[in-house]
Amino acid sequence: MPATILVGGFFGDEGKGKIISYLATHDKPEIVARGGVGPNAGHTVIVKGKRYALRMTPSGFVQEGARILIGAGVLVDPRVLMEEIETLKIRDRVGVDRRCGIIELEHIDADRSDAHLKGTIGSTGTGCGPANVARVSRKGRQAKDVPELQAFLTDVPLEVNTALDAGKGVLIEGTQGFGISLLYGTYPFVTSKDTSASQMAADVGIGPTRVDDVVIVFKSFPTRVGEGPFETQMSEERAAELHIEEYGTVTHRKRRIGAWDGKMARYSAMINGATMVALTGVDKLDPTVKGATERNELSAKVNEFVALVEKDVGVPVKLISTGPELSEIVDLR
Ligand code: GTP
Ligand code: IMP
Ligand code: MG
Repeated sequence: MPATILVGGFFGDEGKGKIISYLATHDKPEIVARGGVGPNAGHTVIVKGKRYALRMTPSGFVQEGARILIGAGVLVDPRVLMEEIETLKIRDRVGVDRRCGIIELEHIDADRSDAHLKGTIGSTGTGCGPANVARVSRKGRQAKDVPELQAFLTDVPLEVNTALDAGKGVLIEGTQGFGISLLYGTYPFVTSKDTSASQMAADVGIGPTRVDDVVIVFKSFPTRVGEGPFETQMSEERAAELHIEEYGTVTHRKRRIGAWDGKMARYSAMINGATMVALTGVDKLDPTVKGATERNELSAKVNEFVALVEKDVGVPVKLISTGPELSEIVDLR
């Protein structure tokens, strides 16, 4: 802490939800604030066997004492958010910036019927692209105009900066991943916004000088959903041999699986200004380490891989996730 931003270093779905939920529970920040595009994200959080698939709510909601905020940069789908607020029972501690962009039903229809977005790019069909187009065209709607959101409206930058001034911890949750950034990703096969740490800071309204740490999340076997180049992609047969199979949290599409990409990891850590790496899925590399919580429980194979990651990226690996459950992690901080 105090101001920590967490981002995805590959193509999204690196396990940010898992890492955020651990950091929120362990470090107990005053605030967990979400940046990123919108409900195209799907974070999986598993706590004591209970699985949550979150699209709008910050994964840090698992820390019950935390205020949970959605930054002005984020697109809100009021239908998705209201459902999550009721299901997760977070009504009394969730806040939405008055200036968040709004996803209308027409944006979802446009996203799903547009041959370019849905077909060529392989969008998630959640309306994010068309809603950001409306926003940039200055024809969009804002959270403050939506009746059902009135009870949750707030000034996220004011809350976040006030907490930081008081020396409290703030965890800023990025979504998507470096390879699908509008600016730095594999254009045009990208999402409708930048996905780097600087964007996340802007989304929740803090200046670059306030950021203390940037945690970049990499998965041992990167994945990609939707169209677009994926240099280290392996064949489906090879992925099956390694017993790796993943499906999208939002769209349930099969994720393409790749091998570790050190070159991409280094470049992405550079643009994100990463100060530490969180590495997920080492249990896929060596199932014997599944559930490990201590460094001495890691195998030689995993230790060698961690050393390779540190050499490739040039940033220390401080968190090693050994399974999807919140508690399955080795914390070296
Ligand atoms: P976006 O914001 O959509 O990019 O998603 P995300 O980064 O939060 O990741 P998502 O939850 O979509 O996908 C990660 C998947 O890996 C989920 O199914 C997690 O439960 C799982 N996962 C996370 N960490 C680990 C790990 O260390 N080991 C294993 N085996 N699975 C993991
Ligand atoms: P859109 O953001 O729905 O417009 O989708 C554009 C591209 O980004 C598609 O390839 C999607 O699969 C991908 N994408 C968007 N959000 C995520 C995410 O949270 N995880 C992984 N891929 C994503
Ligand atoms: Mg996801």
